[in-house]
Amino acid sequence: MDLANKCAIVTGGAHGIGRALAERLASAGARVVVADLHAERSVKIANRVGGMHVVCDVSDPGAVAHLVATAESEFGPVYVFCSNAGMTDQGVDLESTVEQIHRIVDVNMLAHVWAAQEVIPGMVERSEGYLVQTISSASLITGPSGMGYTFTKHGALGFAEWVALNYAHLGITVTCLCPNAVDTGFLGRNEDDGTTTLDPAHRTALGEVVSPELCAEMAFDAMGEGRFLVLPHPRVGESFARKANDYDRWLDGTNRRLRRMRGEDV
Ligand SMILES: NC(=O)c1ccc[n+]([C@@H]2O[C@H](COP(=O)([O-])OP(=O)(O)OC[C@H]3O[C@@H](n4cnc5c(N)ncnc54)[C@H](O)[C@@H]3O)[C@@H](O)[C@H]2O)c1
Repeated sequence: MDLANKCAIVTGGAHGIGRALAERLASAGARVVVADLHAERSVKIANRVGGMHVVCDVSDPGAVAHLVATAESEFGPVYVFCSNAGMTDQGVDLESTVEQIHRIVDVNMLAHVWAAQEVIPGMVERSEGYLVQTISSASLITGPSGMGYTFTKHGALGFAEWVALNYAHLGITVTCLCPNAVDTGFLGRNEDDGTTTLDPAHRTALGEVVSPELCAEMAFDAMGEGRFLVLPHPRVGESFARKANDYDRWLDGTNRRLRRMRGEDV
């Protein structure tokens, strides 16, 4: 994988895992496009990595088309697309509103489709391209995540699998980053000033909290090796294997664990 002067787009690239991916790709010589909703942070990170920024809502297929066209006109054909932007649930599980459910589907699931529609045809023509999908351990083992987050991340993994199955022989490498807890904006980290709103008790309850840099490094290595699944938390793989071996037992055990986490008598 030679990234020197190649165009790499990172959505959600202004903070957290996306910011770390942008820095890792830039350090390997890529010309990085930071695409994010947050204008000020996008400018800051684009400057830091010597790239450019595009303010973009990944849920909007027109905005994603504009992003890819702008990136290609400045930096040449897209070689790497990191579909990383994502959101947590805004509503309370089944009580979420129709608008809240549509929004999380658009951002966490369909954004991957809009990106792939824009970049895969060119990558196939050139017989080379990398898609990095930041998904979540919630796509493999569910855990304590909310309703919308859980099913949209499952859908995102299903789509990534479909792309890998249908495009690997045409030169497309798909890598899915599926971490559990990462020290980012999702967990209250503010990279502008280095503060966090995550209280120590909650942090302990989350178990191992890894850095966005570790996620970026592992995703980068997997790209180079053409590996699909990246699990920064090994216990996620172990739980996934237990689920595959005995789904009902896994459901029963996880149901009890989640109820205990909520303070219920089990
Ligand atoms: N932090 C975790 O514990 C964790 C665990 C598993 C998976 N993830 C996934 O990692 C990805 C990145 O999140 P993070 O943890 O770095 O959080 P973060 O909040 O630090 O960064 C997310 C970035 O995405 C941007 N963004 C959000 N919605 C967008 C949209 N519609 N269009 C463009 N940009 C948008 C935000 O402005 C922000 O800069 C997400 O897909 C998330 O689901 C995070």
